[in-house]
Amino acid sequence: MSIVKINVLSVPAEQREVLEQRFGARAGTVENSDGFEWFELLRPVEGTDQYLVYTRWRDEESFQAWMEGPMKAAHQGGDGEGRQRPAAAGSTLWSFEVVQQAAPKQS
Ligand code: HEM
Repeated sequence: MSIVKINVLSVPAEQREVLEQRFGARAGTVENSDGFEWFELLRPVEGTDQYLVYTRWRDEESFQAWMEGPMKAAHQGGDGEGRQRPAAAGSTLWSFEVVQQAAPKQS
């Protein structure tokens, strides 16, 4: 079954809008990556103040291939000289295997 990679972003309150705008203008590299299955940007409402970047992939290789290539282009806001300061103050990568899943029945 698929794997899930979640990037957990700590975002200062005053940077939330900046972060969401950047995702609004994101590069869209994931959609074109082999093995990509799903993406969601999750805004915290209750229980945490961290944003989650949820991604689901066919397998680990597909995720690694995206990380090594297209992801770098999709993260121009990050480090490096002359680039914008990142909106997030910190990040952590969580990895999961999907063990069970369900979708609504087709009627
Ligand atoms: C160093 C840690 C990271 C930070 C601070 C960060 C932050 C961001 C930000 C602000 C954007 C919006 C586009 C931009 O400003 O360039 C973005 C795009 C994105 N990030 Fe990250 N990110 C990091 C690493 C990761 C990792 C490890 C993943 C894997 C789950 C990930 C998944 C994504 C995805 C799927 C997009 C949209 C790219 C696209 O549509 O092509 N990010 N990230």
